[in-house]
Amino acid sequence: MTNSDQPELEKLYGAARKAAENSYSPYSEFRVGAALRLTNGETVTGTNVENVSYGLTICAERAAVVRAVSQFGPKIRVAAVAVANLNGKASPPCGACRQVLAEFIEPGAPVIFPAADGTRTMAFSELLPLGTEMKLK
Ligand code: THU
Repeated sequence: MTNSDQPELEKLYGAARKAAENSYSPYSEFRVGAALRLTNGETVTGTNVENVSYGLTICAERAAVVRAVSQFGPKIRVAAVAVANLNGKASPPCGACRQVLAEFIEPGAPVIFPAADGTRTMAFSELLPLGTEMKLK
């Protein structure tokens, strides 16, 4: 998906908002949802699942990646990402989630997220420059 596919991105954003309704966030009360559009046309969502130890909390974006691989296998590619929250605050994907998304995402894939003044869309490569460049083999 390209940056200019605004209606599709907005649909994906709606799916992320809906996913946020399932958030398990008794500690922060910050309810986040993520939706991935895969290159196979499927949409996979996730929400944040907190833990009393705090550190074991999983963000919505990583929950969605884990679901996508579990459902569709290791060859999935992510064409677009939407992140939403029900708290009316800015929530671009955290650094850990950017690094995890890098395994599966097309570098030019648009990422829509809540910013200080409404939603903002950026290419993944802007959020994590060189994020898809590391090669071990
Ligand atoms: N969180 C996400 O799920 N994704 C984001 O993009 C921002 C942060 C979660 C983690 C934690 O449960 C809560 O939001 C507060 O940081």
